[in-house]
Amino acid sequence: MQGGCRDSKALRLGVNVDHVATVRNARGGDYPDPVQAAKIAEKAGADGITAHLREDRRHIRDRDIVRLKESLSIPLNLEMAATEEMLSIALKYTPKAICIVPERRQEVTTESGLDVLGQLTKLKEYIKPLQNAGCRVSLFVGTAPEQIAAAAQAGADVIEVHTGPYCHAFNDNQGDVASELKKITQAAEQATQLGMEVHAGHGLNYKTTRIMAQIEHIKELNIGHFLIGEAIFIGLDAAVKQMCIAIRQQ
Ligand code: PXP
Repeated sequence: MQGGCRDSKALRLGVNVDHVATVRNARGGDYPDPVQAAKIAEKAGADGITAHLREDRRHIRDRDIVRLKESLSIPLNLEMAATEEMLSIALKYTPKAICIVPERRQEVTTESGLDVLGQLTKLKEYIKPLQNAGCRVSLFVGTAPEQIAAAAQAGADVIEVHTGPYCHAFNDNQGDVASELKKITQAAEQATQLGMEVHAGHGLNYKTTRIMAQIEHIKELNIGHFLIGEAIFIGLDAAVKQMCIAIRQQ
């Protein structure tokens, strides 16, 4: 047994290794290597690895995507903006999963969900070739019902619900925790009824993960910053195992 989340029938854990690449890039060399981190996460029980290839390559680089694909036996989830450049990269490497996110150069991280409704026609056309190439396509969205309905109209296989506002409310007393949780639960129900699988992520830690794990319709959580932060103190292997325990509610 490799331990961890793969034992759990219900909820999968995707580990986002972008932050390892951020530290690497701070000195311009090859260390620490996000691919090595991904392999440790895989061994510790992660069900998938997520990596965001940003337009400015501020963390993950093209070569990382190639190496991640070659090195992992668990699925790679490529996060990317809906640009022509990213489309050709995705079609070249055909990761198992793709999560389309909005991207602004000035942002520290992905700050909001996609405006699916505002670019419905474009996204419909964008998603098709990716699905034809065998990729499962997810759209990163907020909890607004009209955006979730639009994701279904766009033909998305999956929505990933932005948990940032909930985590802010929970951790920093910025917002109404109960109402943010309700919005996520309702969004997950709506998406499931519309035939899409539901994932969630952004800002999750052990505590908020335990709560997300209780939402019936959520099938996968994508977690990066907290896990890489924890890795500084207890190591990545231990952090991923601890997160798997949180997911399994033990
Ligand atoms: N899901 C998406 C779509 C993201 O953009 C991010 C951040 O890269 C995450 C999940 C993970 O968020 P965090 O690093 O806060 O755990």
